[in-house]
Amino acid sequence: MIEIRDLHTYRGLNYVLQGIDLDIPDGQCTVLLGRNGMGKTTLVQTIMGLLRPRGGTVRIDGTDIAGRPPFAIARRGVALVPQGRRLFPSLTVEENLTLGVSRRSRGSRPAGGAGWTSERVYELFPNLGQRRHHRGNQLSGGEQQMLAIGRALLTGPRLLLMDEPSEGLAPVIVERVGQVIADLREQGLAIFLVEQNYGLAIRSADSVSILANGSVVWRGTPGDLDADPAARESHLGV
Ligand SMILES: Nc1ncnc2c1ncn2[C@@H]1O[C@H](COP(=O)(O)OP(=O)(O)O)[C@@H](O)[C@H]1O
Ligand SMILES: [Mg+2]
Repeated sequence: MIEIRDLHTYRGLNYVLQGIDLDIPDGQCTVLLGRNGMGKTTLVQTIMGLLRPRGGTVRIDGTDIAGRPPFAIARRGVALVPQGRRLFPSLTVEENLTLGVSRRSRGSRPAGGAGWTSERVYELFPNLGQRRHHRGNQLSGGEQQMLAIGRALLTGPRLLLMDEPSEGLAPVIVERVGQVIADLREQGLAIFLVEQNYGLAIRSADSVSILANGSVVWRGTPGDLDADPAARESHLGV
């Protein structure tokens, strides 16, 4: 679905992405691992159009969208669950879910993306349904993460970019996030999962890439990575 070639992105004067090549196929969970500060968030923000690359291409179904604005990329079926959730703390669950999703665009997307409503999100996350009139800041960390995922689903994506969804969550909730990822993938959604939680990443992945200093330094299957302690040690410290 997405083909990234020789992608270069700066943050201010900071040369962060230094020639990324990466494929995100339809219907699979593609995992990106890497230590803090290696450029993972910069990569998802560049894919989503929140940062403009200095060079290279990001093709969605063959069309280069590098440098296009976020709404244009969302329209092609890409949604972001940002690092740190980025919810509106004083708005309710229901308001957080539906804000910014126009009635016209809601559920009207092609293949795989169609049909997401707040009711369907509440079926996936019953806790959120019970708390639909609670404010964002009254939710637990796990509920906030589910809300951030639900909000992204309401835009009707074919590809969900998830930036460290396990960050700051208790192990049992990380387990739940893993189930959600597996369910969504089962339903045909492509997932690009950025993680530092090695266990969640390995359990979820069809393929794994490791980012270090703005380049992909390792790629393979979860089995390959499990069998390569030297790569884990040098690139991840696990
Ligand atoms: N707003 C910013 N301005 C300049 N440099 C930044 C900014 N945000 C992050 N950086 C730098 O860009 C690099 C990559 O950051 P980031 O993509 O957030 O890494 P990761 O998500 O892998 O932790 C880091 O060295 C970080 O210090
Ligand atoms: Mg990050």
